[in-house]
Amino acid sequence: MKRPIELVADALLKSKYLIALTGAGISAESGIPTFRGKNGLWRKFRAEDLATPEAFSRNPKLVWEWYSWRISMILKADPNPAHYALAILEDMGILKAIITQNVDDLHERAGTKNLIKIHGDILTAKCTSCRYTKKLDSPPNELPPKCPNCGSLLRPGVVWFGEPLPKKELDATFINASKADGILVVGTSGVVYPAASIPLIVKERGGFVVEVNIKPSNITQIADFFIQGKAGEILPRLIQIINNRLNVDRDDRGG
Ligand code: OAD
Ligand code: ZN
Repeated sequence: MKRPIELVADALLKSKYLIALTGAGISAESGIPTFRGKNGLWRKFRAEDLATPEAFSRNPKLVWEWYSWRISMILKADPNPAHYALAILEDMGILKAIITQNVDDLHERAGTKNLIKIHGDILTAKCTSCRYTKKLDSPPNELPPKCPNCGSLLRPGVVWFGEPLPKKELDATFINASKADGILVVGTSGVVYPAASIPLIVKERGGFVVEVNIKPSNITQIADFFIQGKAGEILPRLIQIINNRLNVDRDDRGG
């Protein structure tokens, strides 16, 4: 009898346009805290004080201090086997795009090419008045940082509560979701929209939903396959099974 992970490998191999949706859980094994759950950021901090446009107008220094702490943590972290497994799946031609809610750069550093960052990028600072943006390779020296162009405040390049998602990324997300015949959902609680609606779009078009999470989430009820466990352990195993299948097929052809 095939185990669920082997059935997932079959489904991925048969898919024509597989996409992935990732959340904070995929970076947890890199030492980056998630938002919800036991040690989640939203357990210790109030989003209303740190991650809204109003919070930034009230106290830009405090908001920047919090983002600077997160930036330092991300710069010190490395991609984990889950990030690498998804990059390999893309190289194999199976995975076509990753839509991530994460603002870290661990998918990029693992080698993923077609990455859609729908909640922005914490390593970019952008001007609150003009179009100036700056890549950050360390937290800004002076907080809050100012625009060298126009003198206005720079803000973190992330999406805050109450803000719309970036149009280019949102368009790319829906184009990919409308092409997908399968989606791999990794490490997200599935409570923040519109990200959480992407698996449903794929499902409603007849595609399959695979979820990898250490515990059931809001997505689990629509998942065709739920593999419970750490992304950094499950995804490399999945790659290994897929590789074995491909090798067997090759051997069968006498190659
Ligand atoms: P959450 O913190 O809400 O959820 C993290 C999910 O990852 C949970 O379902 C965990 O069970 C799971 N998880 C934790 N460790 C894992 C591991 N090692 N392997 C697999 N799964 C694991 O994070 P998100 O769903 O990403 O938004 O949160 C969505 C959005 O809410 C974030 O992008 C952020 C936040 O507020 C903005 O900042 C706009
Ligand atoms: Zn400016």
